[in-house]
Amino acid sequence: KWGLDSKWIAKKVIHLETVESTQTIAHQAARENSPHGTIVVADEQTMGRGRMNRSWHSSKEKGIWLSILLRPEIPPNHASQLTLVTATVLAEVLSKIENVEPLIKWPNDILLNRKKTAGILTEMQSEQDQIQYILIGIGLNVNHSIHDLNEDIQSKATSLRIETEKEWSVKDIIQKLLIAFETAYDAYMEDGFAPTKKKWENYGFKIGENIAIKTFNDKWQGKFLGISDEGALLTESKDGTPVKLYSAEIDWFTE
Ligand code: BTN
Repeated sequence: KWGLDSKWIAKKVIHLETVESTQTIAHQAARENSPHGTIVVADEQTMGRGRMNRSWHSSKEKGIWLSILLRPEIPPNHASQLTLVTATVLAEVLSKIENVEPLIKWPNDILLNRKKTAGILTEMQSEQDQIQYILIGIGLNVNHSIHDLNEDIQSKATSLRIETEKEWSVKDIIQKLLIAFETAYDAYMEDGFAPTKKKWENYGFKIGENIAIKTFNDKWQGKFLGISDEGALLTESKDGTPVKLYSAEIDWFTE
């Protein structure tokens, strides 16, 4: 039904009309031994989840609300690299669209015209330093018109339709995304993070750009200095010295 010519991804697809969150369904599927590459996709989420306990608006058939179940044999502290692999795949797929220039905001946001179009939520289940499974949740705003976005987020969020003035087939983009993800994932397993890092750099912020950095208890300004060989954020600490952050958020620009 999905007509996907894939090696392992989406061999099992759980497609539901309305769910609270595709992540919740995917956790359940994982516990019930669904295989590596299982996809959970919904037309609508009533309690879509974002990072840092935020909610994620996921209205009916407006976008891609999807979770990918993975069972990778990598150490748990490499799991966040899969977020960057996914962000790179999203950026690559979107960049094929005419006049669309995606920008990755480390670690997990895809921006168009500096407004958020997609986010990634990576959740991991591990036991004794072994990954049981990873869920990559992808939310991509596709066919929202400006009126579909709350006034308070209109300045921060956008959709493919708003940026291209065209409607897009959600299914078509999902298929492109999954095939590209499969290829990128296999390359990552084969060759490690280096090839992703190189591609990522085409879509990341410019080195030297001013950013606002937010950690769980602090916020300051510094320059973006790239990502490390493991995918960590390279930036400046409060006093201007170089620092490597594994977990942080680049906050909305203060420009
Ligand atoms: C973020 O930017 O904070 C991450 C947003 C992730 C949203 C997706 S939509 C599909 C999957 N199910 C969820 O509840 N969240 C993710």
